[in-house]
Amino acid sequence: MAEESHAVAGAAMPRHIAIIMDGNGRWATKRGLPRTAGHKVGAETFRKIAYYCKDIGIQYLTVYAFSTENWKRSAEEVNVIMLLLNRYLHELMELMARDHFRIRFFGDLTGLPPKLEQLAHQTDDVSSALPKDYCLVNLCINYGGRDEILRAARKYAADCAAGTRKPGELDESLFSSYLDSAGLPDPELIIRPGGEFRLSNFLLWQCAYSEFYATDTLWPDFTTDEIDKAIAAYARRNRRFGGV
Ligand code: FPP
Repeated sequence: MAEESHAVAGAAMPRHIAIIMDGNGRWATKRGLPRTAGHKVGAETFRKIAYYCKDIGIQYLTVYAFSTENWKRSAEEVNVIMLLLNRYLHELMELMARDHFRIRFFGDLTGLPPKLEQLAHQTDDVSSALPKDYCLVNLCINYGGRDEILRAARKYAADCAAGTRKPGELDESLFSSYLDSAGLPDPELIIRPGGEFRLSNFLLWQCAYSEFYATDTLWPDFTTDEIDKAIAAYARRNRRFGGV
């Protein structure tokens, strides 16, 4: 669907949508399948939703693919998720220029399997050469909101120790520039499929004034209609940012 034909337009349209892709395991278990089957279908859902968001004019899409806490899962499940990330990253690398996407990573890439880390850096390199008006997909891998804030605080402390920054000059805008999301607007809308009402350590700094939309639909069943519904709900919200 083209941007102009979308039901919601202009200021009511979020620039940045963030999604907690939850419910893959339950989707599979309900069908008597291994949890990994849910991740495979979930990865396809990601592809579909990313293209749709781009087509309707969303400039930034941030998805929570693997958290700093997800390493607690079985080795088999973690392996399948890493393989899927590897496969989809390879594919996206091939298609980014043709389909007008850029990819960026949020999270501690040093904790990833070396091949995936290398691929993430290559994808970054390809992306940085692409036009800035291409839709930017931020993949959160080995990501935790608290970990992101700690990494930023450590970097700032190191700059102070090196004499390039002073503790007293730190303000919200400067601190934001040390985060994985440096230079990007905060998400106006955070969508959580899977029926839970929590943030699960996602974008803790950036979500200060985000509108939250939750749905019972499990991520593998999530459709473009759900994106439309979330955007329509967002458009009806009265955002006051602490004012009246
Ligand atoms: C949460 O569902 C999902 C994950 C922890 C993994 C998400 C990974 C993918 C969708 C595949 C790879 C992604 C890309 C971007 C190609 P859950 O397993 O916690 O579900 P549950 O709450 O039902 O157990």
